[in-house]
Amino acid sequence: AATRDLAGRHVVVSAGGTREPIDPVRFIGNRSSGRQGVALAAAAAARGARVTLVAANVDDSVLRDLPAANRAEGPGAAESADGVAVVHVGSTAELADAVHAAATTADVVVMAAAVADFRPENTPDAKIKKVPGRPPEPIRLVENPDILAGLARERRHAGQVVVGFAAETGDAAGDVLQHGREKARRKGADLLVVNAVGRDRGFGAASNEVTVLDGAGEVVTRAAGSKRVVADAVWDAVLKTRP
Ligand code: C5P
Repeated sequence: AATRDLAGRHVVVSAGGTREPIDPVRFIGNRSSGRQGVALAAAAAARGARVTLVAANVDDSVLRDLPAANRAEGPGAAESADGVAVVHVGSTAELADAVHAAATTADVVVMAAAVADFRPENTPDAKIKKVPGRPPEPIRLVENPDILAGLARERRHAGQVVVGFAAETGDAAGDVLQHGREKARRKGADLLVVNAVGRDRGFGAASNEVTVLDGAGEVVTRAAGSKRVVADAVWDAVLKTRP
C-alpha cells in the first residue's frame, strides 16, 4: 500500500517479549523476537502515521527494520513529531506504564508484544545462591494485569481502536481459531489477530499466517506472507473498524 491512509493518526504498537525478574541477574522470558510488531510500526509509518513503538527486549538487529529517518529513541522520544518513536522497556510493569502513557493520545493501540501472564512474587535485591545440599526454593508466581483487556475497558481516547494478538499452539487450524474466538470475546478488543505458533512458525520466523477476528469472534480477514504483508493487512482491517 503506497497510500498515506494513516496520515494524522497516532498509533501505539507494543512489540517483543517481556522479562520478569527473578533476581538482579535472572528473568522469566519468552521467544518473541518483536519482528511482527516492528513490521506493524514500519508499515504504519510508511502509511503516514505517527508511531510510538513500545519495544520489550527487541534486538537491535530487529529494530533495524524501522525506517532510519525519523527514528527517535528513549522515553521522551514519544513526543517527537513524525515517524517512529521507540520506547524501550523490560518487564510487564514497565510495558504497561509506557503503553498507558502513549495510549492517552492514540487513535489505535496494537498489543503485539508477548506479555508474561505471571511474574515472580518476590524479587530479592541479591542474586539467589545455590546452597550445597539444600533443594532450591520454589519461585512463587503472581498474575500480571491484562494490559489489553484494561485498554479495551478504559478507552482513553474517543474512537480509539484496540487490537490484540493471540499466539495459539494447536495441531488443527480449527483448534487455533476456536481458542482465538473465545479470547476475542473475553478480551473486549475490537480486533484480535490470531496466529499459530510452534517450533518453526510465528515467533522469530520471517513470515506469518494470521486470521483477524472482530470482538465477537467473527472472521474479518486472513493474511499470509511476510510480517510486513501481515502488518498491512492488519492496518487495512483497523481502518475498516468502527469501535
Ligand atoms: O491471553 P493471551 O496472553 O494469549 O493474550 C494475548 C494478547 O493479550 C496479546 O495482545 C498480548 O499483548 C496481550 N496481553 C496483555 N497483558 C497480559 C497478557 C497478554 O496485554 N498480561
